[in-house]
Amino acid sequence: MLTQAKVRYRTTIFLQEKLVKMVCVDDRTRVNPLVYKFPLDVLAILHNHSALAGLLDAKERFDAPKCDPSTRIGIIKKLTNWVESESQSLPSSLLWLHGPAGVGKSALMQQLGLIMQEKGNHAASYFFSRTAVGRSDGNSLIVTLAYQLAMNFPPIRAHIASNLNKNPGIFSLSNKVKMQLLVVDPIDKLCATSFWKRFFRERFLRLRSTMQIPRLVIVDGLDECDNQDIQSDILLLVAHAISQLRLPLRFIIASRPEAHLLSSFNNSIFDKISYTHINLGEDGDAEHDIFLFLTKEFKEIRLNHPLGRLLPDPWPTPAQMDTLVMNLQEDLYILRRC
Ligand SMILES: Nc1ncnc2c1ncn2[C@@H]1O[C@H](COP(=O)(O)OP(=O)(O)OP(=O)(O)O)[C@@H](O)[C@H]1O
Ligand SMILES: [Mg+2]
Repeated sequence: MLTQAKVRYRTTIFLQEKLVKMVCVDDRTRVNPLVYKFPLDVLAILHNHSALAGLLDAKERFDAPKCDPSTRIGIIKKLTNWVESESQSLPSSLLWLHGPAGVGKSALMQQLGLIMQEKGNHAASYFFSRTAVGRSDGNSLIVTLAYQLAMNFPPIRAHIASNLNKNPGIFSLSNKVKMQLLVVDPIDKLCATSFWKRFFRERFLRLRSTMQIPRLVIVDGLDECDNQDIQSDILLLVAHAISQLRLPLRFIIASRPEAHLLSSFNNSIFDKISYTHINLGEDGDAEHDIFLFLTKEFKEIRLNHPLGRLLPDPWPTPAQMDTLVMNLQEDLYILRRC
């Protein structure tokens, strides 16, 4: 005969085993029942509506300029720490990287995107270009970001599928609706469904949550998107998304400091979120970077030019190098004030 205590003990063990099975499944591999209800090929649908030429590793952007090794070291470290910080109460989730033409914003964004991709922390990125084909349409941005989020963070696919199923015409709706239904809502639903799972894991099983989210979202060259109104709209949409998102995504928007973008920061939404900005034109490492860059380029000329072996050594002399670095810095200073 089982005593009451034994029955209670066995019931507890049985429930614990069930619970362990329920909550110990990795978020990335678990098959969500929603997928069966809405068997849409989310990636294929988003892929068909994305502007793929603007992706970090798009074939159209093959060998895109990036930072020379040993340049921008300080700022890359600063941005990497900002992206990777575990703190939920960071001073900001939005960073505006601005600076004059040619100062190296896109090169820096490319470099940071590649570093984060290697570390599994690249969520999505888009590189606008006013001249390259298929890279200036602001209306394609949100879908292209959602496509990458779905690719890099599979658990949100089922929630995007659900919204696509309810709104098949979503791709011709406004950017605001697209941001809500393809990015904010799927992420928030996922957070809501995984809340209890994480709660049990951490509270009762003393396991750390396994939900690994890639963090970094880059929008480079916002000023190169084809319409100033859409540029401002995108900036505000990102701010609104940040104010609602429960995940610690980090958004970087890089652009020249155009007047209409500056005035968009006066919108009241920026009182609700914390954001920061960096003027790349004022990066303190510039002099050192210019010196390293010139040294490398002159070394290559000596090695590769047919008359390189006839050059005097050293070439240029230290005094000539100082003058070159000073002149280039002055040029940058003039650009900064333009
Ligand atoms: N750290 C760096 N190392 C090597 N080359 C660089 C670096 N920064 C910039 N460059 C070079 O300078 C050129 C201009 O840089 P980039 O396109 O990144 O400027 P930008 O600030 O994005 O300009 P724009 O406002 O026109 O978009 C590029 O061709 C790139 O190769
Ligand atoms: Mg650029």
